[in-house]
Amino acid sequence: MKIGIFDSGLGGLIVTRAIRKAMPLYDYVYLGDTKRVPYGNRSYETVFEFTRQAVDYLFKKENCEIIILACNTASARALRRIQQEYLLKNFPKRKVLGVLIPTAEECAKYKKVGVIGTAGTVASNTFVDEIKKLNKKVAVFQEPTPMLVPLVEEGEKVLAKPFLLKYLKSFLNKKFDAVALGCTHYPIFKSEIRKILGKKIKVLSQDEIIPKELKEYFARHPEIEKKLSKNKSAKILVTDMTKNVMKLTQKWFGKNSKPELIKL
Ligand code: DGL
Repeated sequence: MKIGIFDSGLGGLIVTRAIRKAMPLYDYVYLGDTKRVPYGNRSYETVFEFTRQAVDYLFKKENCEIIILACNTASARALRRIQQEYLLKNFPKRKVLGVLIPTAEECAKYKKVGVIGTAGTVASNTFVDEIKKLNKKVAVFQEPTPMLVPLVEEGEKVLAKPFLLKYLKSFLNKKFDAVALGCTHYPIFKSEIRKILGKKIKVLSQDEIIPKELKEYFARHPEIEKKLSKNKSAKILVTDMTKNVMKLTQKWFGKNSKPELIKL
């Protein structure tokens, strides 16, 4: 059985590549909802419904044992309902995990933490709630950074710099210990963000957090790990195919990547 990875679009390929590098033996299937991206400004109901459709596809058509919601917006707005309603009723033995809680666990190790994410993720307050559940003493400050995803998707990394400076301003000179990058696309800006924030503020990036957490999860759950097939394969599925989808897939997952079009 495979490991499924779902994202609203293609940004999740960045964390997928890091997971695959850390655990190359398994079979991966990535599903990017390129037809309906972005999810960042959508309602709870819509994010839940879109995520449910994707998870259903990955379980039924791709025989996934476990699915990672690489999308922070889906992790913030849909994961709990997926686990409590959908999974319980349809696939009680299989697993759906998000990227938000492992990131919150990293944040909970510090005293004063900043989080950046889409408008939807920030408005859900899920990062703050999850960090506080783990450690009440952490002071958490959030900043929505809505312009970053469209700029990355358009390949405009350089144009993003003034936005990064504007968004990160609130974390400068206020004795923050760490800033978490709470969105699939932000690892792209990791070194730029590190430069802006300086050496004293730790940048918590999901392409570093998630592979480590998943490895530990499999070590704690051998009953799941032993069901996973190990043929080193990776398949990329998308819900809309354009030149830009091809270009970004190859840029973020390797130049031989060939996304396949599916219908949810
Ligand atoms: N994947 C989304 C996230 O991590 C970013 C893109 C979107 O808004 O859909 O929050």
